[in-house]
Formats: sequence, structure tokens, C-alpha cells
Amino acid sequence: MKQQLEKIETLAKEELSACKEIKLLDDLRVKYLGKKGELTAILKQMGKLSADERPVIGQLANKVRSDIEGAISEKLSILKENAKAEKMKAESIDITLPGKVQSLGKLHPMTVVENEIKDIFMGMGFSIADGPEVDDDYHVFEALNLPPDHPARDTQDTFYISDNILLRTQTSSVQVHVMETQKPPIRIISPGRVYRSDAVDATHSPIFHQIEGLVVDKGITMSDLKGTLELLMKKIYGNDCKLRFRPHHFPFTEPSCEVDISCFNCGGKGCSMCKDEGYIELLGAGMVHPKVLEGCGIDSSVYSGFAFGMGLERMVMGKYDINDLRLLYENDVRFLEQF
Ligand code: PHE
Repeated sequence: MKQQLEKIETLAKEELSACKEIKLLDDLRVKYLGKKGELTAILKQMGKLSADERPVIGQLANKVRSDIEGAISEKLSILKENAKAEKMKAESIDITLPGKVQSLGKLHPMTVVENEIKDIFMGMGFSIADGPEVDDDYHVFEALNLPPDHPARDTQDTFYISDNILLRTQTSSVQVHVMETQKPPIRIISPGRVYRSDAVDATHSPIFHQIEGLVVDKGITMSDLKGTLELLMKKIYGNDCKLRFRPHHFPFTEPSCEVDISCFNCGGKGCSMCKDEGYIELLGAGMVHPKVLEGCGIDSSVYSGFAFGMGLERMVMGKYDINDLRLLYENDVRFLEQF
């Protein structure tokens, strides 16, 4: 019986050491230690032993059981460790691989220049005013000294919602809204979308953007307008750029002027971009007409003001040397990536 027990232990250990799977370990436990297992079968014959042999064999049987149990649990932990190591290996991440680069969007060139202009004006103490794109005839035309039959309305035909409600043709309408609600001193710029009944080509679009500026205070003169615009243009186009003020007519300013800038391309010598003029027209400006001030409840014998309005598209095209307005609206990434 002693030999049988020793044989069981040897066989069990051999099988255990050959075992490579956790689920087979349980089969081995049943085979050797289970109720119908080999060890139990031997213990059932203990009754046949003499009183002297019984404790010796009993002790040996217990030792064999605990040896096999120990060997099983040791094997179990080895197999578990191996399984874990294999899983780690299979799931390992190579942290030296380059990551996936997220392509970041950026600001549209129109927004870049608009922000730049806003910053420059905020640095001069201006605030930013907003106004409605759908407005009434009074704010877009009449209060700006353009009564219903004024010929200057012809150049600003627009889209009408009704006889009285229309899409604004100029951000000058914001002048009126601001002067109706604020008392001088007023110092605002108002960027925004404007609409005109124009066909699309390289320099025209039925929707475009303007930035209007308005200053109203005591003692404001044309030289304040000149100084302000010169500072703006030098900051945007560099210190070498020159401004040219030409007399013009706008119903809401008197005197009025158009302001040209020395050509971005040739610096004033004359080239195809400026049609040999040396200058490029950039904006309209002037001293706010006393009728406009009075209409908004501002005493024109005490206050005076200047206003100007520029096309944002034209500023952007000049700054980046873009020759077709449509490129700014098509949102082709190959174009936009260049800025
Ligand atoms: N609103 C004018 C235009 O669209 C520009 C302008 C603004 C002129 C303010 C004078 C003063 O042409």
C-alpha cells in the first residue's frame, strides 16, 4: 500500500508538470483526489490493514494528499501567471509609434483681417457695435439723407422683403442705430455683412462685408479722420504705404472723400494691378452730415463727427494679393490652407 501511495504521488506530479492548461488541472484533481479518485480508492482499503500499519499509512496518505494539493495550487498559479504574461504581450502598445495627427482648422483670412482691424480700433478706444442685416428703409437710406427718390439709391439696389423692409446695403445703417441710442462721445466700428443686387464676378458679390467707423464728439475734424485712417492702414499694410484722399459724394457725409492706398503690388509706380494708377481705392469717408446728426437728436452746432466705410474683402485681397473675390467664399481647403 505504501508503494501504491508513492506511485500515485509520482504519477500525479508527472502529469501535473506536463499539464499546460488551467482547465485540465481540475480533471487531474478529480482523478487523484476526488471521491472516486485513486487516493480515495486506496484509503477505502485501510480497514484491511493491521492496527500498527494503519497510522503509518494514514499519515503517508495525508502527506500524499497535501503534496498533490500543494503541487496543484502551485501549478495553478504558474499557469495563471503565464496566461497573464501572454495576454499582456498580445495587448501591448508600442508607445514609440507616432500618434495620429489631428488636422486643426484655422481662421478664414477674412476673419483674420477682421480681427486685426478690430484690435487696432479697440486699441484706439473704439467699441464694436452690431446692427440688423434686415433693416427698414429709414435706417438704411432715409436717416442717412437718402430720401425715396434720391439718385444715389440707384448704386445701392438691394433685396426687398417688403416695400419698407430690406437687406442693408451698407453698415452705415449702424451709425443711425448707435446715434439713436447713445449720446456723444461716440467711438464705434461696426463690421458686418451687406447685400447688393450685383452679379457675381471677380470683384463683385451680392453679399459682402463692410466695416463702418463712426466718431462723434465736440471738435472732431477731418484731420482726426485722416490720422485714424493713416494709423489703421500703416498697421495693416506697413509703414511705407501712402494714403490719398479724393473728393467724392456721399449723401450722409459732407465733405466726403474716397481714400486710396498706394498699390500693394508696385508701391505707387504703376502696374497692372492698379491699372497704372499707383493707387487702389479702398474706402469711402467724410464728416457726418449735420442733417444726419440732427435726425438722430444730436445738436450739430455742438457736436461734429466723421464716418468711414470699407469693404473687408478688398482689404483682405490687398493684404494677401488675392485676385478673385470668389476664392474667399468657395471654401476650397487648398486655397484656405495658404493663410
Ligand atoms: N457706406 C458707404 C458705401 O457703402 C461708405 C461710407 C461710409 C462713406 C461712411 C462715407 C462714410 O459706399
